[in-house]
Amino acid sequence: MSDIKWLPDGQKMFEKLMAAVPEPMREPIRPKLLQMLAGKAAGQPVSGELVKKFVDEDLPEPQRSALMAALGMKPAGAAATPPPAAAAGWEGKAEMMFERMLQEVPDMMREVFRGKLMAIANQKAAGGPIKEEHITAIVKEIVPDPFKTNILKAYATMGDVDISKVEDIIAKHPGGDENLIAILHDVQAQYGYLPREALILISQKKNIFLSKLYRLATTYKAFTLDKPKKNVVTICTGSGCHVCGGSELLKKVEAAVSGDGADVTLEKVRCLGCCDLAPAVMINGQLYSGEEARAKLAEIL
Ligand code: FES
Repeated sequence: MSDIKWLPDGQKMFEKLMAAVPEPMREPIRPKLLQMLAGKAAGQPVSGELVKKFVDEDLPEPQRSALMAALGMKPAGAAATPPPAAAAGWEGKAEMMFERMLQEVPDMMREVFRGKLMAIANQKAAGGPIKEEHITAIVKEIVPDPFKTNILKAYATMGDVDISKVEDIIAKHPGGDENLIAILHDVQAQYGYLPREALILISQKKNIFLSKLYRLATTYKAFTLDKPKKNVVTICTGSGCHVCGGSELLKKVEAAVSGDGADVTLEKVRCLGCCDLAPAVMINGQLYSGEEARAKLAEIL
């Protein structure tokens, strides 16, 4: 391990420090930390105390505070630090984006990062509400890759989930694990699916691993993680409809659904029970036949 001379507790403390670094960053950052630590030691053997001193004095924020917490060190004045909050509130999806950013931070360091990042967000907001652009700027300026790319990708696909509604649902079900299913049912009823943003918030407010929520969401048939499409098209593939042009309609819908544009869920059934309407198509619960079906499909595809 470079040309550092280690005391046993020094090496142990350094490995504890490395264990607190998020996994994808661990090996890339190790040589740099060792080089910095060697500089600090100036040829002397490295003790556990020196590793702690190095973290406290030489690492930048917010990594410094997060790693100090991981090593069981108390930052000066920590007891007097008020709980982090948005000074003048949030605008748009900023709070949801902030929580999504924190999701990339390992559990043990999340609260420390929350405080530091909240301080930076408040600073950017300059007395006003924290906006989406402030959070995006923090991600671009501070967060290293691959976390940055993950977060920005998640922002690009973030749905229109009103986070305050999810907060209301969580508040309606106080307590711990025993109410998770009830919370998930309410979220499913609210949105028609379980949005990732909602699961992240539940995980943080209830202090439950996100993986546990995903396990529940995928175990029960009552839940779905996929946002429902705007239109449901049910095409009859029975022989009566097939010979009257049903196969043609099916091909058209399949081509549209396989591309990116159509907001359509396609279902196929053997018979819609109205063979006299062949080719029969059901669109959003309404039956259509022949030309009428073609016109309606052209409208929604
Ligand atoms: S075969 Fe199409 S509705 Fe019966």
